[in-house]
Amino acid sequence: MYEKIEDLEFNIYRFLVENSDKNINYLIECKQTKKAIIIDPLDKNQILEIISKNNLIPELVINTHAHPDHIKYNSFFMNKYQIKLRAHDLCKDLFDYEFDNIFENDVIKFGNQSIKIIHTPGHCPEHISIILDKYIFCGDTVFNCGAGNVRFRGDCSMLFRTIHHKMKNLPDEFYLLPGHDYLMNNLNFLKNIIHNDTDFYNEIIKFTDVKDQDKLSELKDISFEKLYNPFFRIDELSFLDLLKNKEDFQNLNIEERFKLLREMRDEF
Ligand SMILES: [Fe+2]
Repeated sequence: MYEKIEDLEFNIYRFLVENSDKNINYLIECKQTKKAIIIDPLDKNQILEIISKNNLIPELVINTHAHPDHIKYNSFFMNKYQIKLRAHDLCKDLFDYEFDNIFENDVIKFGNQSIKIIHTPGHCPEHISIILDKYIFCGDTVFNCGAGNVRFRGDCSMLFRTIHHKMKNLPDEFYLLPGHDYLMNNLNFLKNIIHNDTDFYNEIIKFTDVKDQDKLSELKDISFEKLYNPFFRIDELSFLDLLKNKEDFQNLNIEERFKLLREMRDEF
C-alpha cells in the first residue's frame, strides 16, 4: 500500500518497503505533465505499480546516497524507461554505470516543477538531500527523532555539522521525508535516556501510542524535530537537564556531545 501526498502542482508517493530496515521509497510527480522522479529505488514491484496505476512518465532516478538499500534498482529503472541517474559526484568510484553528477544548490527540472539539491554529508560523504517546495527528502541524514549512523563510510563530525549548520536552519514548516521509518525506535531510545518524571517524557509517551506499527509514521516537520530530536537539541543546556547521564555530557563541547549521543544510540 502506498500513500499519496497531494500538493497543488505535484504529488509525492511514498510507501514502506517490507523489510526489517523499514526503508521508505518515494516518487514525485509533476501533476500537469505526469513526469516523475524515482528516489532511491528498493522495492521494484511497488514502484512499478505506482507508475502504472497513476500513468506516470519516469524521467529520472535520483539517489540520496550510494548505500546498497538506496541504489538496488537504479539500473533496472534506467534501462526500462531509458532515463538517467543523478547522484553526487563522489559516487563515481562507487557505481559501475554512468550517471550525471549533482552538487550543492543544483536545481533540476522535471515537467513544470523543480527540485533543489543540498549536500548533506556525514552518514556518508556523497549524501545529498532533495528539496521540493516545503518537503525535504533527507535520506539517512536525519530521521524522525534521530540521525543517520556513521558505520558505513560515515563521519560523525561531518554529520554534526550537516545537522547543526544545515538541517536545523531549514524553515520550521519543512516536512522531513527520511529514507527509513525509525520514529518508534528513536522515541524508545529517547525514553530510555531521559528522566521519566518529566513533562517531556509524558509528551513522548503520547507519540509511542501507535496501534499499527506497520503503517508509515505521519509526516513531521522541522519544528517537531527541534522539540523531540535529541540530535537537534544536544546543544541546549535545558535538554541536558532532561538526561539521566547529564554529567557525561555537560563538560563536553557540542560536537563531542553529539558523538556521545550517536554512540549511545548505536549501543541501544
Ligand atoms: Fe544509508
